[in-house]
Amino acid sequence: MAYTIKKATEIADKIFEVWIDAPHVAHNACAGQFVVIRTDESGERIPLTISATDGDLVRIVFMAVGKTTTQLSDLVSGDTIQDIAGPLGQPSEVKRWGRCVVIGGGVGIACLPILARELKAIGNEVIGIIGARNETLLLLEDELSAACDELVICTDDGSKGFHGFPADILKQKLEEKTIDAVWIIGPAIMMKITSIATLPKKVKTFVSLNPIMVDGTGMCGSCRVTIGGETKFACVDGPEFDAHLVDWDGLMQRQRIYPEQERQSLELYHEHKCRCGEKHE
Ligand SMILES: Cc1cc2nc3c(=O)[nH]c(=O)nc-3n(C[C@H](O)[C@H](O)[C@H](O)COP(=O)(O)OP(=O)(O)OC[C@H]3O[C@@H](n4cnc5c(N)ncnc54)[C@H](O)[C@@H]3O)c2cc1C
Ligand code: FES
Repeated sequence: MAYTIKKATEIADKIFEVWIDAPHVAHNACAGQFVVIRTDESGERIPLTISATDGDLVRIVFMAVGKTTTQLSDLVSGDTIQDIAGPLGQPSEVKRWGRCVVIGGGVGIACLPILARELKAIGNEVIGIIGARNETLLLLEDELSAACDELVICTDDGSKGFHGFPADILKQKLEEKTIDAVWIIGPAIMMKITSIATLPKKVKTFVSLNPIMVDGTGMCGSCRVTIGGETKFACVDGPEFDAHLVDWDGLMQRQRIYPEQERQSLELYHEHKCRCGEKHE
């Protein structure tokens, strides 16, 4: 069965928003969950977070970093993809916490709208903090402003909003107010460093881990991570875990095990595109 792309837009530099007609996912998705996508029959499976739903449609937001995300970024409205499996993984721990902070770094910002809306819908106060290297990499600002009670924008180079990192704003908020729960979603190094801020006050802090995943159903073991000394499979036990229990060095090592194969795969895709003059099949 093929799934139709209803809308595809580049929303920031190399970052794409794609709406896919997939009722089985859209009608069952919760914040924190993800899908595994295969663009065509011979394509690899890649996990992408469910960023929003609207009726039968599911939104994914991704950065074109390698072969499959580049292939996805070449698709336009009306094209189809081979599979979209999901929703997968455990939903975020959405309950009445009180005051929550949701933090997104880079493309991780895309995971926040669905989470902020779910937290707010049951009466939490939600403070959003988003950060990117520069203004051209910021995304979904209007949507997040509407979903959060307060939204703080940060850029590493000061081109928009606060000149600095989300961790600086988080520290400030922790000084000013009682914070009951924090979510941090972004690159592993950003999640590791930012989550240190909540340690002194022992604020419950969730991070969404992104190890390499293959089947997404707990069978292949490729997504194993160490949490509080125990082995967990991020695809079925997570992807969200207590930030203060994560073995960050182990995660980051495992993310970098296939760089040569990833480089070759992207090169072959570009060569094929040049030869056939258009999209890869
Ligand atoms: C639960 C989860 C949710 C994710 N959500 C998003 C999202 O919403 N938006 C987004 O841009 N990215 C997301 N990612 C990362 C995304 O899956 C990778 O960027 C994508 O797989 C890269 O594939 P590629 O072929 O384009 O690049 P490659 O050149 O194959 O890889 C580039 C880098 O992406 C990572 N990667 C590669 N293959 C996989 C894989 N099968 N599983 C996980 N990581 C991989 C590796 O770190 C690798 O170094 C998520 C990852 C996980 C685990
Ligand atoms: S992706 Fe295979 S066990 Fe998690």
